[in-house]
Amino acid sequence: MSGTAQIGVTGLAVMGRNLARNFARNGYTVAVHNRTTAKTDALVEEFGDEGAFVAARTPEEFVAALERPRRLVIMVKAGEPTDAVIQEFAPLLDEGDVIIDGGNAHFEDTRRREKELRGRGIHFVGAGISGGEEGALNGPSIMPGGSAESYASLGPMLEKIAAKAKDGTPCTTHIGPDGAGHFVKMVHNGIEYADMQLIGEAYQLLRDVAGYSPAQIADIFRTWNTGRLDSYLIEITAEVLSHVDAATGKPFVDVVLDRAEQKGTGRWTVQIALDLGVPVSGIAEAVFARSVSGHADLRDASRHLAGPTARKLREDEAPAFADQVEQALYASKIVAYTQGFHEITAGSEQYDWDIDLGKVAAIWRGGCIIRAAFLDRITSAYEAQPDMPSLLSDKSFAEEIAAAQDDWRTVIATAVAQGVPTPAFAATLAYYDSLRAERLPAALTQGQRDYFGAHTYHRTDREGTFHTLWGDDKSEVEN
Ligand SMILES: NC(=O)c1ccc[n+]([C@@H]2O[C@H](COP(=O)([O-])OP(=O)(O)OC[C@H]3O[C@@H](n4cnc5c(N)ncnc54)[C@H](OP(=O)(O)O)[C@@H]3O)[C@@H](O)[C@H]2O)c1
Repeated sequence: MSGTAQIGVTGLAVMGRNLARNFARNGYTVAVHNRTTAKTDALVEEFGDEGAFVAARTPEEFVAALERPRRLVIMVKAGEPTDAVIQEFAPLLDEGDVIIDGGNAHFEDTRRREKELRGRGIHFVGAGISGGEEGALNGPSIMPGGSAESYASLGPMLEKIAAKAKDGTPCTTHIGPDGAGHFVKMVHNGIEYADMQLIGEAYQLLRDVAGYSPAQIADIFRTWNTGRLDSYLIEITAEVLSHVDAATGKPFVDVVLDRAEQKGTGRWTVQIALDLGVPVSGIAEAVFARSVSGHADLRDASRHLAGPTARKLREDEAPAFADQVEQALYASKIVAYTQGFHEITAGSEQYDWDIDLGKVAAIWRGGCIIRAAFLDRITSAYEAQPDMPSLLSDKSFAEEIAAAQDDWRTVIATAVAQGVPTPAFAATLAYYDSLRAERLPAALTQGQRDYFGAHTYHRTDREGTFHTLWGDDKSEVEN
């Protein structure tokens, strides 16, 4: 017998609980289940009046509560707990049922799980969900992978609970088969790392070079948020910077330990980029910057190292510098997104996912942590030229960087001269200059490799593979 719930959520910590409430508030009957039943009871007791919930105490009760084909969302800790829950539920399901993993799974795990469950006739949808607990409740950006058939059954529900972009488009789309959704979520998080690091570097320059206070910098970010940098991360930066610690009366940022955490997804973005041979230097520097911040012993042992004596700008010089930092931030941000989209292109080619980059940009316009006004522009750029080799191939972005580049360079030069670390600003500029350079020192690298390892090289003037007999008369042989 079929149950009445159109969807079920198992795993009722912050994300699962809010996602279940979101489904219920949108008119769906939601079966809810958690390993520890107290959480299921608490959800129904606290929020039961928000919609129709069916509380299930056992996996059997949970599965029985679902209408067919069953749609069951798993929102538990990523990794082994997800496998354990799948193993618990899969035997209770029938062909055509759909399991959705909304956790932050590694896309290779999703590929493995999808393959295994496909063999048993069960659809497995690895869905990246971004927006934190607030997004889960009021509308996240959802990046589902899996079969097109599963999206046909699930898509309309996801579209209903997802955030809506300003033009009303739901922030979800079928990303592609098996691990495509979790791969795109991983890169989303990598870009998020870069975005946050770039904002952090802008903050430090405004503080250490321009001499602004956190409250003044909050105002600067508020102003930036009314322009082309308009985004969730800039908005919350202003909020965080203007917050004053109640216990000490000091700016909140001055009482928080300056050691940042890095969870799996940012690190994975860089690891996978290395495997795919995609230069994501801005994202990598963001991950490394968190890592450096966490090395307390290393930092303590390095306090004696010499640096320039930073000369703060005069008060009348600071506003012009702040404008230059805005230019630098925008230019670096474009490059960080360019690198992230390159990684998605490479992943899509490697795994045959046929990911539509314009749609990815479109579903990041609302709900997710990197939502930003300029994603509208990225969406239009990819709609106009779906096969662009790089976001920097888009004329309007290239023109904006051209207009920003003098200030971008000045800001980084100032940071270097004053000894303020700006690894992500510098890495993104170096990437930009590498792409536009007529000649790179890779020719010399090839010469060195051929010298010590006979690795051979190609010539600019004719086809073929060559090796120079370095120890002899330096004559060249064709391999
Ligand atoms: N927090 C966020 O902002 C955020 C954003 C996007 C995605 N995510 C992802 O969403 C998922 C859920 O995140 P969360 O922060 O809500 O919760 P979480 O702390 O990652 O996980 C807690 C949940 O997992 C369950 N669980 C753990 N081990 C289990 C096992 N072996 N068998 C059955 N259930 C098990 C817990 O059940 P008990 O109550 O019984 O312990 C609880 O419901 C994670 O994959 C996370 O990475 C989180």
